[in-house]
Amino acid sequence: MAEKLPPGLICACLIDRNRSAAPAAAKQTKAIAEKIDAETVMGPPPQGSIAYTTPWQALKEHVKEIDKTHLRDLLAEEGRTLALIKEYNGIYCDFSRQRVTEQTLELLYNLAREAQLQQKIDAMFKGEKINTTEGRPVLHVATRARRDQKIFVDGKDVVPDVWKVLDKIKDFSNKVRSGEWLGVTGKPIKNVVAVGIGGSFLGPLFVHTALRTDLTAGAAAVGRRLRFLANVDPIDVARALDQLRQEETMVVIISKTFTTAETMLNARTLRTWLTTELGEAAVAKHMVAVSTNIELVTAFGIEPQNAFGFWDWVGGRYSVCSAVGMLPLSLQYGFDMMEKFLMGANDVDDHFARAPFESNLPVLLGLLSIWNVSFLGYPARAILPYCQALAKLAPHIQQVSMESNGKGVDINGKPLPFDAGELDFGEPGTNGQHSFYQLIHQGRVVPCDFIGIVRSQQSVYLKGEIVSNHDELMCNFFAQADALAYGKSPVELRAQNVPDHLIPHRSFTGNRPSLSIMLPELSAYQVGQLLSLYEHRVAVQGFVWGVNSFDQWGVELGKVLASKVRQKMNETRTGNRKINAADAFNPSTMFMINKYLE
Ligand code: F6P
Repeated sequence: MAEKLPPGLICACLIDRNRSAAPAAAKQTKAIAEKIDAETVMGPPPQGSIAYTTPWQALKEHVKEIDKTHLRDLLAEEGRTLALIKEYNGIYCDFSRQRVTEQTLELLYNLAREAQLQQKIDAMFKGEKINTTEGRPVLHVATRARRDQKIFVDGKDVVPDVWKVLDKIKDFSNKVRSGEWLGVTGKPIKNVVAVGIGGSFLGPLFVHTALRTDLTAGAAAVGRRLRFLANVDPIDVARALDQLRQEETMVVIISKTFTTAETMLNARTLRTWLTTELGEAAVAKHMVAVSTNIELVTAFGIEPQNAFGFWDWVGGRYSVCSAVGMLPLSLQYGFDMMEKFLMGANDVDDHFARAPFESNLPVLLGLLSIWNVSFLGYPARAILPYCQALAKLAPHIQQVSMESNGKGVDINGKPLPFDAGELDFGEPGTNGQHSFYQLIHQGRVVPCDFIGIVRSQQSVYLKGEIVSNHDELMCNFFAQADALAYGKSPVELRAQNVPDHLIPHRSFTGNRPSLSIMLPELSAYQVGQLLSLYEHRVAVQGFVWGVNSFDQWGVELGKVLASKVRQKMNETRTGNRKINAADAFNPSTMFMINKYLE
């Protein structure tokens, strides 16, 4: 575990503020408090990290108890196991393969109360400026609010503004899809290229990938192509434009700031691609933008009526429900389909805001991740959808989670005495099984999220076969979680006559935690639910760890250095000279840039 111990604990943290805890948990908390009491000095109440509090210390002690158990035995307790399967509006979350007991959960609820989790959730929904380093509210939930909801920023209800943009998207996408809006040569628009990066790309790509093979969404998109261009790599440009004809193509430039270097360069590249073929008039008919910075959109040459706004209280990685996702996806699938997606996300938002911790799925997901990372010491998490349509879930959640919680200081700027965040990665099953599952089964312990769908978007039944392709997929979904939990012991292997020298190689320790999420189907509504579930899980983790999950200063330094290299490269190219000591690069960078320029 990467935790650093506090220099000294202070008496006020010993007051047990969690009077509603279960007796066992309370008893343990009290015992720890007494132990700490003997070692600490009197002083003012702690303003510091959650790691210096009694509930945190109680959980640390509790690890010793859990280490005495094996998931094999925990799963045998029927009462515990069934109690750990939670359901909300068709979503089943099975937490029984987490290394937890009822007492662990009680201790985690204590921790959540200590961290004022409910108050922080309330503050987010109330539009308080909880992104303190940028002085902004965090209101992606408003981008999927129902028309009758009220959400305030600085005393102003923002829901009418949200719906004004959504209505504009509806109107515009209907016009394009019906052929009322034509390209500059009079041809209907069939293709959309969405240009954006990071949060202005990964969420829309995830949703598009999820909906492409849904029968209803797919039917609405027949004859249409939606492509994404994120990377500044000319290979990505070539692939995005492959076989597209300018006169049938609309380019959507998506950038919250409208300053991101890669997006702006790609925007200029695509404007040239359009205007070289169709002339300057093409910009008005073939280029639209999504941004919070309408001034820069206009300066780029896109008319304000072709710009779709959003607000600084929507973080980039949380922006897929704003025009960032809604415009390109409505052009592809129609607004009505995408409204279902919004309502799915809104449904889980409501649940998150109101449900008690014990039945609140994002809260449980978040607390159990904290347990795995901060107490059991597992720094990574695998996101493993047994559904090809969710192939882009892991890349999207990588950004949502790692850009949000990958922080070194707490919200007050104090160094964290533990490592926050986790390393997220994943691939759809069963493909991942033939790739990195070896490490997960016999190498490092990586808590896994298994995601399965009851009714597939597609069905393939081969004549004479009882098990369909989807059944086969789901057999693996069920089997993997148990394989990780139970493992295989030398005794079992001997009983199967496995030769002695192979027993160490073929043994599985088991006791490897996972959780399973099962959705009834994967239509636009469930995609919205899943998105909201994961977004709020990340927020719960950040709220409890005490970090600001809504800024991203860590990506700035690389951008600044790239801009210096760009400037120097321009100078050397125009001045026909090499990079030299006066350019103030280290010998390695100087050597490599000169090699590149040669
Ligand atoms: O580099 C990271 C980041 O700042 C993300 O947070 C953001 O989603 C992305 O860049 C793109 O920014 P923009 O939408 O302003 O182009």
